[in-house]
Amino acid sequence: MAEQISVSQISNYVGQEVTIKGWVYNRTDKGKLVLVMRLPQESAVIITGPVREDKRAPGIPGGYELGVKQIEVVQEAALDYPMSLKDHGVDFALDHRHLWIRMQSQWAILRVRVKVMSAVREYLDSHGFFNLDTPILTPAAAEGTTTLFETPYFDEGFAYLAQTGQLYNEANIFSFGKVYCFGPTFRAEKSKTRRHLTEFWMLEPEIAFCDLDGLMEVEEGLITYIVQTVLRDCAAELKFLGRDVSKLENIKEPFPRISYDDAAKLLIDLYEQETDPEKKELLKFEWGMDFGAPHETEITKLYDKPVFVYGYPSAVKAFYMEPWPGRPEVCKSVDLLAPEGYGEICGGSERISNHDALLARIHKEGLPEEAFQWYLELRKYGSVPHSGFGMGVERVTAWLCGIEHIREAIPFPRTIKRVYP
Ligand code: 4AD
Ligand code: MG
Repeated sequence: MAEQISVSQISNYVGQEVTIKGWVYNRTDKGKLVLVMRLPQESAVIITGPVREDKRAPGIPGGYELGVKQIEVVQEAALDYPMSLKDHGVDFALDHRHLWIRMQSQWAILRVRVKVMSAVREYLDSHGFFNLDTPILTPAAAEGTTTLFETPYFDEGFAYLAQTGQLYNEANIFSFGKVYCFGPTFRAEKSKTRRHLTEFWMLEPEIAFCDLDGLMEVEEGLITYIVQTVLRDCAAELKFLGRDVSKLENIKEPFPRISYDDAAKLLIDLYEQETDPEKKELLKFEWGMDFGAPHETEITKLYDKPVFVYGYPSAVKAFYMEPWPGRPEVCKSVDLLAPEGYGEICGGSERISNHDALLARIHKEGLPEEAFQWYLELRKYGSVPHSGFGMGVERVTAWLCGIEHIREAIPFPRTIKRVYP
């Protein structure tokens, strides 16, 4: 009996007879299995035969062929497979996401996503972090009240889908020191940009006795590890996607750091120098504004690595961020912007550790004080400086793959206009 293997093991079996279970990707000469036969695309088959090396054989990584000695057809696919190998419009592809994920490009992107996620866990688990899960049903907003998903909740009134696990991470550090949560987060984002989903996966580390500088060190260590691991383990996927990996190879800590003030000066200069009226409109900027995508692109153009921008105006950031000493209008926040126009991949800050200062912020933002009683209490019993950040899995994956839109970086994307399939 021939040994049953998976396609990924094929290189170890050259000259031997093996059995592989799979699907017909293409009848002629491309794909997971190279077959010359008359089965419709996506038919399920079990094939036994000898493994041959052939440099020309396609696939990821490719280079091998299976001779067909015996074939069992598990199911002959219907002839009208909607996602044939020709190019489809985006809407058509998204409507058929359940089939689109079988395509090699999507397979490659989602393999990179899997690697990003496992690299995250490897890195943090081996650096003293504890993975504690935080709730998805929560009593109040944590990242602004305009992007809340609300759901009726028995006799309690309403609950909200978590926009972040951060506040619960902040409770957990007082028991565990360094923690992270890693799960789906929800934003009723009205924005239809290529960087926004309504459901996305966020990694959020939180660290006790850590200031803004310490936080940036954790971020650059983690991002370096992710990039280098993906380059090493997903070389074939990146090659298939046509990614220019020379743009990723030099991404190693330390990353450049620039203050919001300096970034603002630079943007104002660019705005003033711009002569094309259309571009000028997009680049419009003054101190106090949050960056739009065109601003982030201009900043990242100056570096070939991700860049930290720190010290944003408090008015454009969340309520829990520690004010800059002596400059209450600025907060100890930091965003990490990825090169090549990808923009913000991580957002984080030092947190307000003083009880009264936090309470004042909660009042100022008009947030319901009762819902934050527990969060305020953390500031009464052994409060310490602490910091954390959130990293968007789809944004990192899209950047590493060099793809245009983050909707391809999650198996089943949810956007303002889409909850199907
Ligand atoms: O900057 P954000 O909103 O930060 C927080 O939620 C903090 N509570 C995190 C923390 O400090 N623990 O989100 C963090 C990251 C962003 O940098 C981005 O990568 C991603 O989450 N993100 C989104 N990704 C896809 N679609 C969206 N709508 C996203 N919103 C944020
Ligand atoms: Mg942010």
